[in-house]
Amino acid sequence: MAATLTPQRLTLFVTFLTLFTASVQQAENPVPVPALDAFEQEAVYRALELMSGGVPWRVIFPDDLCASAPHGVVCDVFLGEDSTAAHITELNFGFVSDYNSNPPCAPNATLPSWIFSSFPRLRKLFVFSCFAGESESYVTFPDVPAGCGTELEELVLIDNPSLNGSLGGIVRSLVNLRKLVITGSGFYGGLPDEVGEMGRLEQMTLSGNRLNGVVPGSLTNLTSLRLLDLSRNEFDGPLPESIGQLRGLLKLDLSYNQFAGRIPDQIGDLPELEFLDLSYNRFGNYGIPLFLSKMVKLKEVYLSGNELGGEIPEMWEKLGGLLGLGFSCLGLTGEIPESMAASLKSLSYLGLENNSLEGKMPDGFLAMENLGEINVENNKLSGVIRISPNVTTKRLKLAGNPGLCIDRSLTGNRSMRRDSYSYRHELRACDDVTQLPVSVDVHHYALASASVSDGASPYLLIGLLGLILGLFLQALYS
Ligand SMILES: *[C@@H]1O[C@H](CO)[C@@H](O)[C@H](O)[C@H]1NC(C)=O
Ligand SMILES: *[C@@H]1O[C@H](CO)[C@@H](O)[C@H](O)[C@H]1NC(C)=O
Ligand SMILES: *[C@@H]1O[C@H](CO)[C@@H](O)[C@H](O)[C@H]1NC(C)=O
Ligand SMILES: *[C@@H]1O[C@H](CO)[C@@H](O)[C@H](O)[C@H]1NC(C)=O
Ligand SMILES: *[C@@H]1O[C@H](CO)[C@@H](O)[C@H](O)[C@H]1NC(C)=O
Ligand SMILES: *[C@@H]1O[C@H](CO)[C@@H](O)[C@H](O)[C@H]1NC(C)=O
Repeated sequence: MAATLTPQRLTLFVTFLTLFTASVQQAENPVPVPALDAFEQEAVYRALELMSGGVPWRVIFPDDLCASAPHGVVCDVFLGEDSTAAHITELNFGFVSDYNSNPPCAPNATLPSWIFSSFPRLRKLFVFSCFAGESESYVTFPDVPAGCGTELEELVLIDNPSLNGSLGGIVRSLVNLRKLVITGSGFYGGLPDEVGEMGRLEQMTLSGNRLNGVVPGSLTNLTSLRLLDLSRNEFDGPLPESIGQLRGLLKLDLSYNQFAGRIPDQIGDLPELEFLDLSYNRFGNYGIPLFLSKMVKLKEVYLSGNELGGEIPEMWEKLGGLLGLGFSCLGLTGEIPESMAASLKSLSYLGLENNSLEGKMPDGFLAMENLGEINVENNKLSGVIRISPNVTTKRLKLAGNPGLCIDRSLTGNRSMRRDSYSYRHELRACDDVTQLPVSVDVHHYALASASVSDGASPYLLIGLLGLILGLFLQALYS
């Protein structure tokens, strides 16, 4: 039978690569260190056999694991009162990339609870894409034994769809976590009240699980939080008003849940916030929150997919740093304020589609040089779209606004660039008078024609002068 590259062989290959780089590092770094405690050494072998079975770990790494270990197994030296000792401080599982060749996970991987009791100085546990088994064959995240895990600072579980569990044990035991990341997994149930006691937490990212229930008010006790991401779960109820206490927050992502009620004004008290995503929830009928106007550090705001209603307020003066704005599917009415285009000089994405906005498209947006995408599809906009000759907008989505037309005389005949605009088939040219529907604002149309002749007049004048001169010369010499 011909040799084929089976997963086992790939695993071995990766392992030998790992071994090779590990020994190179050892040769470069001859500083003597105390050997890893025999109990922890044995526990590493057993953990590797459970998570990355099928590889002869004990044969490949027979010596002190602090001197030569697979990537992803990290030791550190601790100075005691009368002796130094080496302990395991990091365990990383799951092949990430050629530069981060952690021990790859076997299809039958399991995560034992003794991992928390065997490594008293474990600071980081990282598991990437290890539990991706067939549906319905869940591996449950282990209970943390009482009194263990208090040294753990980072628990990072990414893309493990067949890993399930509840947050209760983690929150009650791993009280000194600074980073809690559980994404793309099957965690379920609520966020327990005790979360408020994880006073060192700087990052909580729990997106893409099946977590539900109301977010407890105690969460806002976590004043060290910089990143809070609960997106893509089933949380509901109102947001606690005390959220304004999380004064160090840089990123707040609560998108794709079922949060309801009013967006608390206290979000406006978060002085450092740069990223706010509340889109696709059930926030109610209170209009675009005006507190945004004072959040000068904001770079991205997404509120799409909530029934906020109302008009777009005039509140953009201090928001010149905004790069992305998503106000789609909000039930917005009225006009797009000119002041938006005038203030939002750095904007690169603007989503206003699927509202009931009317009136004209502010010219300012069409002249912006950084704008990557404008989407105003499916509104009731009307009038003339005048695209500045040197606009670099990549995607301009205007379809679904029967009252809009394109002033072709200003955009020029740049057929090669038309592919980058989605108006190609949907928008009429304004000079196509026969097809003007009644909804088009004749005033705007007239304005556009006026500016065309303004633009053309110098050339027209020179041409006329030339003609007169020519006739004159011809008359002179004939
Ligand atoms: C997982 O499978 C490997 C073979 O691929 C086997 O050697 C190992 O014992 C299995 N581990 C467990 C915990 O069943
Ligand atoms: C989690 O996985 C275990 C083991 O497969 C299973 O018994 C349990 O029902 C799962 N829980 C949920 C909520 O899916
Ligand atoms: C808030 O944090 C303090 C200090 O970290 C802690 O003592 C207290 O129990 C926490 N309160 C709640 C409601 O979690
Ligand atoms: C807007 O509406 C169109 C047509 O109903 C739909 O295809 C599109 O997905 C909607 N866009 C968003 C962002 O929901
Ligand atoms: C177009 O580019 C020219 C030269 O780079 C610049 O002077 C002019 O202001 C630009 N026009 C607009 C509308 O941005
Ligand atoms: C635009 O240019 C294309 C090719 O360069 C040409 O075929 C077409 O007739 C021009 N259209 C107009 C309206 O000038």
